[in-house]
Amino acid sequence: MLDQISKFPSTRFMGSKEKIVHHIWEALRDYTFHSALDLFSGSGVVSYMLKAAGKQVITNDYMHMCGAIATALVENGEIRLNDASIDALLRPHPTIDGFVQGTFAGLYFSDEDNRCIDTIRANIARLEDRYERAIALSALVRACIKRRPRGIFAYVGDKYDDGRKDLSLCIEEHFRAAVAVINDAVFDNGQSNVAWCGDAMSVRGTPDLVYIDPPYFSPLSDNEYVRRYHFVEGLARDWSGVDIQWHTKTRKFKSYPTPFSSRDGARSALGELFARFRQSIIVVSYSSNALPHRDDIVEMMSRYKQQVRVHSLDYRYSFGNQGHKVGNNNNRAEEYLFIGA
Ligand SMILES: C[S@@+](CC[C@H](N)C(=O)[O-])C[C@H]1O[C@@H](n2cnc3c(N)ncnc32)[C@H](O)[C@@H]1O
Repeated sequence: MLDQISKFPSTRFMGSKEKIVHHIWEALRDYTFHSALDLFSGSGVVSYMLKAAGKQVITNDYMHMCGAIATALVENGEIRLNDASIDALLRPHPTIDGFVQGTFAGLYFSDEDNRCIDTIRANIARLEDRYERAIALSALVRACIKRRPRGIFAYVGDKYDDGRKDLSLCIEEHFRAAVAVINDAVFDNGQSNVAWCGDAMSVRGTPDLVYIDPPYFSPLSDNEYVRRYHFVEGLARDWSGVDIQWHTKTRKFKSYPTPFSSRDGARSALGELFARFRQSIIVVSYSSNALPHRDDIVEMMSRYKQQVRVHSLDYRYSFGNQGHKVGNNNNRAEEYLFIGA
């Protein structure tokens, strides 16, 4: 199982539990469960770990880029992209729409990289197999994130170029490398796993275990995923159904609404999810510097669960708005794992 988890394509996705996924498994392994629902799957690493543990996994996230990686690596158990398909994806296409070249010229990537992105987009649209499409899209998203200083699209230009090797490779090189690591991470666990893409608040079902890892709400920092990842999220849904805010420098689109963008919203959404999944083992990740506080969450879970345990996993932020504090010892936030059974 550890070998399999180590194949997960590592990412810098905000809030990813990659660094603590083993601790999460240690905390869960003694509970008896077969099916697990990962309601806010993000990078997909927790679902991948549960799949590696032999569970039947359902993933959900409202970002299409998260849905793509979960489809490629959790739902998919056998399809890989072969060399001929990769070459075909990179071959110039006669009917390229030039959307990225036109819309994002000079913002994130060179003209040549933008042309390559448009070529891959056009060729992905021609793939018929859902899993091949998911692998190719996930690889394109990964290529763009790796080629981008700090891996985000909340600013334009190259101001955070720190000379990393990743920043000297072109999108085509990143894309080929990304397909290779994703191909290598595909495996079958003998279960029928499913990847969904939608609002967590509308998901229904009675899994044996539900894992709830929403954006952490804090009045001191913003937790907006779309603001950071709009470009790659746009790629994943081909900008369909979004309103680009043309007056913004970044050409971002409007964030998706989520209750986790306000204190009261986060509190009532957690309460609603605990009530809805009262039949399941409920597992929640949350941070000590976010609201609601630990005791409040324990109290809310205790309304439905006889036993609520809180594990505290030491965690050092190294991303986003906390980034300036790296190296400062006050920079410790505890990462809690609540388990209600
Ligand atoms: C803390 S991250 C999850 C991280 C994930 N466990 C991992 O290890 O990578 C929170 C996720 O919630 C998603 N999200 C926020 N609001 C949502 C909603 N209302 N419905 C579904 N997904 C939502 C975001 O897109 C983001 O991927």
